[in-house]
Amino acid sequence: MAQQDDHFKKVISHAKEYGYIFGSSEIYDGLSAVYDYGQNGVELKKNIREYWWKSMVQMNQNIVGLDAAIFMHPTTWKASGHVDAFSDPLIDNKDSKKRYRADVLVEDYAEKLNQKAEKEIAKAAKRFGESFDRAQYEATNPRVMGYREKQKSATARLAQYLTQEDLPAVKALIEELGIGCPESGSKNWTDVRQFNLMFGTKLGASAETATDLYLRPETAQGIFVNYLNVQKTGRMKIPFGIAQTGKAFRNEIVARQFIFRMREFEQMEMQFFVRPGEEMKWYEHWKETRLKWHKSLGLGEENYRFHDHEKLAHYANAATDIEFNFPFGFKELEGIHSRTDFDLKAHEEHSGKKLQFFDPELNKSYVPYVVETSIGLDRMFLAVFSASLQDEELENGTSRVVLKLPAILAPVKAAILPLVKKDGLPEVAQKIIDDLKYDYRVAYDEKDAVGRRYRRQDAAGTPLCITVDHDTLEDNMVTVRDRDTMEQQRVLITDLPDILNKKVNFRHWIA
Ligand code: GAP
Repeated sequence: MAQQDDHFKKVISHAKEYGYIFGSSEIYDGLSAVYDYGQNGVELKKNIREYWWKSMVQMNQNIVGLDAAIFMHPTTWKASGHVDAFSDPLIDNKDSKKRYRADVLVEDYAEKLNQKAEKEIAKAAKRFGESFDRAQYEATNPRVMGYREKQKSATARLAQYLTQEDLPAVKALIEELGIGCPESGSKNWTDVRQFNLMFGTKLGASAETATDLYLRPETAQGIFVNYLNVQKTGRMKIPFGIAQTGKAFRNEIVARQFIFRMREFEQMEMQFFVRPGEEMKWYEHWKETRLKWHKSLGLGEENYRFHDHEKLAHYANAATDIEFNFPFGFKELEGIHSRTDFDLKAHEEHSGKKLQFFDPELNKSYVPYVVETSIGLDRMFLAVFSASLQDEELENGTSRVVLKLPAILAPVKAAILPLVKKDGLPEVAQKIIDDLKYDYRVAYDEKDAVGRRYRRQDAAGTPLCITVDHDTLEDNMVTVRDRDTMEQQRVLITDLPDILNKKVNFRHWIA
């Protein structure tokens, strides 16, 4: 646990030191849970967005894009259920005066039990060596079974009480489990209350005539209200999808853990419209496809797991999270939801407009069912960044800090380094940049000894360093150093575009 905390602290300070993430309006002491992306952060974020967009829109003939406005007619949010049901169960600690999400307190308690079980299993695996049978140990060891039983019971009871909207029972559960305030340990809790998460604002010139609006809490509704526009103008046939990336806003009361839970964040969502009755087939399809997408980035297959929802949102008949092993444990990274025809039907009712599709094969009209994939871009950023940041012990007894970002996502693909600042080497380096810059973002660095420059680029996440030395003037060759293996290779300058292409070609990553 202490190791995890330590790594998380390093992630936050490294993100600042290398121009990835700054606290918002820092000169005024910042704004809680609001962050700005710096010169490298904006590139990494853009590259993640593009990796998602290409794999959704470019790779699928039946998925198209959309960019809907953040402001929407206020009835949208009545229809979607957000006005009545988009709330979190909150609880206050009377002694520390800290406010928490009651469900998160129980989930964290359950995760701690899971970690205890995993620790027991890891100890046993070490003790028994190669003959260790994890499944058998989990099924027979009384301590592990005890932890798992308690964990299962806590999450099942939480789901049941939330579904029944029985808030006194949620409070009683917290008390029964002996959950204390994470800051003070106090168990002196208030009752649990529901709190709506939407930010309200006003549209109009005067207070009397202004209309109450909401900042959208999800991008999905922009897709639903445009579904027929896109279907008709794009002559789309079911099944088809609409993808969108954009900002969403939630007045998260417990906004902690850096960019994991923010008040202003970006989502990448895709609504896939299908025939009623075929939604479970597509739900399974998108579960598998999205997990494959995550694994394609090479951040470690063991870092992902599915968590099927026991308590379903008001719009879903099946839902799962793809959880990622963040520095603070496994948490939701992406949601995949079978949303039935809830949203389109609700918009039909509230708008009075028909939102049906005529299916020529079935020769009938119906309101399509929807399977949604929804991922937070900032959360994906944190997953990529935290898994990539490593402290590495080297063979020569030294160590280095290296940010092993997937090359396709790295903000700068290569740094061009003249060995010295004279003898015409900077000019050759600049010529290389002038050639590569049309296709790749490359950087120039001439300060300090080359070894220090390598370390700086390792920490910034640059996959390749290209060094120009005196021999280059004779043989037109440069040294290419790989960030991850630290291997060096002498290559012709004319081969550089090919080398970079192999590193960051979308085809190689996604295939
Ligand atoms: N349209 C469905 C929807 O919005 P959600 O599970 O509430 O579902 C989807 O959100 C994803 O958006 C989450 O898996 C998470 O990655 C991201 N997300 C949600 N709230 C967030 C927050 N406060 N800060 C950062 N990311 C958030």
